[in-house]
Amino acid sequence: MKNRILIDELKNHIDQEVVIGAWVDTRRDQGKMIFFEFRDRTGKVQGVTLPNSAAMEIAKTLRSEWVVAVTGKVNKRPERNVQADKQNGDIELEVLGVEVLNESETPVFDITADTREVGEETRLRHKYLDMRSPRVQNNIRMRAKTAKAIRDFLELEGFIEVETPLLTKSTPEGARDFVVPARLYPGNFYALPQSPQQYKQLLMTGGIEKYFQVAKCLRDEDSRGDRQPEFTQIDLEMSFVDREDVMALNERALIDLVTKLYPEKKIQEIPFPRITYKEAMEKYGNDRPDFRENKEDLNVLAFGWVIDFPFFERTDKSDNPQAEGEWTFTHNPFSAPKPEHMDWLMNRENIGDILTTQYDIILNGYELGGGSIRNHKPERLRKVFEIMGHKPEDIDANFGHMLKAFSLGTPPHGGIAWGFDRLMMLLQNEPNIREVIAFPKTGEGKDPMMDSPSLISDKQLAELNIITKKVEKK
Ligand code: AMO
Repeated sequence: MKNRILIDELKNHIDQEVVIGAWVDTRRDQGKMIFFEFRDRTGKVQGVTLPNSAAMEIAKTLRSEWVVAVTGKVNKRPERNVQADKQNGDIELEVLGVEVLNESETPVFDITADTREVGEETRLRHKYLDMRSPRVQNNIRMRAKTAKAIRDFLELEGFIEVETPLLTKSTPEGARDFVVPARLYPGNFYALPQSPQQYKQLLMTGGIEKYFQVAKCLRDEDSRGDRQPEFTQIDLEMSFVDREDVMALNERALIDLVTKLYPEKKIQEIPFPRITYKEAMEKYGNDRPDFRENKEDLNVLAFGWVIDFPFFERTDKSDNPQAEGEWTFTHNPFSAPKPEHMDWLMNRENIGDILTTQYDIILNGYELGGGSIRNHKPERLRKVFEIMGHKPEDIDANFGHMLKAFSLGTPPHGGIAWGFDRLMMLLQNEPNIREVIAFPKTGEGKDPMMDSPSLISDKQLAELNIITKKVEKK
C-alpha cells in the first residue's frame, strides 16, 4: 500500500494527514460520532469520525474485522481524554476517508477477548482468525524472535545450520513412524524423521563438527498438551566434546535467550541444579521434577538436569524376577554408557546397572530436551544392538550405514535436542503447545481447517500400488 503508515508510528505524525492499512477491531456508534479501534501488526489506535465529516456515511457501514485503508489526521487528544497506560493513548486518528479493502462476515468468535475460552475445534477451524488475537499474535512473533536469538547465539559459537531430509528411513526412537509410500518402489516406504538423530551424527563423520537445526520432527503418537504428531526441535550435535561441554553450552544458550528476550523472567538457580534419575524417581516419583520453590510466580524458570539414566530396561516389565525379558534402550540406542561403565557394555555384564551419558534438561516440571554423548566406535554401537537381541544380519541391514561411518574416522561426539514448542509454551506462560504453534493439530491429530487427514483418490492409490480397506470417512 502506497504511503502506508504503521499504527505504532502514528505518534511521529501529529497534525499530519496519513493513511493506515488496518482491521476494524471495534466500533462504537454514538450517533453523532463513531469511534473505532483500528488494528495492524504493530498495535491499535482509536479512530473518530466527527459530526458532519464527509466520511460519516461510509464509516457507518464498517463492521468488525473489515479491512480498510483509512485516511485521517493524527490529533493529540485533549488532556482529559489521555489514557497514559494505553498504546497511542494520547493521540487519535480523525477519520477523513475510508476505502474498504475487504469486508468480513461476522467472525465466529470474538477475537478481541481471550480466545482460549473458545472451543478448540472452532478455533482450529478458523486458525487465521484466532491468530489475529493479540495473545496468539504475540506467541507467534515471540517464537520467531526466539528462534532467531538461538540461531544468532549458536552461530557465534561456531555452529552451522544444516537441513536434513524429511524422506528417510525409520529410526528406532521409541515412537511409531509416519510413512510415505515410494511410488517408484512399489511396496516400499520412506519414513518421516522422528528426529534428525542419525543424520546429525553422520554430519559429525562429515567433519561439520558443530551442527544445529530448527528441525521438524514427526511421530505417530497420541497428542497431549505437550505433544503433537508434528513438532519442532532445536537440535544440535558437537564433535570432540564430553558431557560437561554439551551441558555448559546449553546453559549458556538458555541464559542468553532469557536475558535478551525475557528479562522479566528469573532463572531460579545458576548453574542449573542436577539430580540423578534414581534420586528424581525416589524424591519426586517422576523423571522431570518441578524444581520451582514458588509455583504461583509465572516468571520463575526452574531449569535443571536429570542425569545417570539406566541405559537398558527389561522389555518384560512383569514383577516376576525369573522373567527372561529382553533388553531395550531407555532413551536412545546411539548413546554411550558412562565412561566407567564402558567395560560392562563391552563384556555384557551388569546390564541393568549400566548408566548412560544421557542428560535431560527439565523446566518447571516438563522435559524440555534430552541428549547424550554417543557411541562413536562401531564395535560399541554393535554391542548395544546385540544386548537388545538383534541378529547380526539385522544390525547390518538396519544400521550398517552408521557402523560403516563409524569405521571411517568419526570423532567422539554428542548433542541434544530441545522441544521448541515446549520451550515457547513455558516462556509464553501458555497451558499447552498448541497455543504457540501457528497451525497445530487437535488432540485427535486432525487439522479441522484443512480437513486433514483425508481420503485420496483411487487414481492416486493405484499409482502408489496401495489397496485400502473401505472405511467410512470420520
Ligand atoms: P527426544 O525424543 O527426547 O530426543 O526428544 C527431544 C525433545 O523433543 C520434545 N518432544 C516433543 N515435543 C512435542 N511433541 C512431541 N511429540 C515430542 N516428542 C519429543 C521434548 C523432548 O525432550 N534425537 C534425540 C535427541 C538427542 O539425543 O540429541 C531426541 O529426539 O521436549
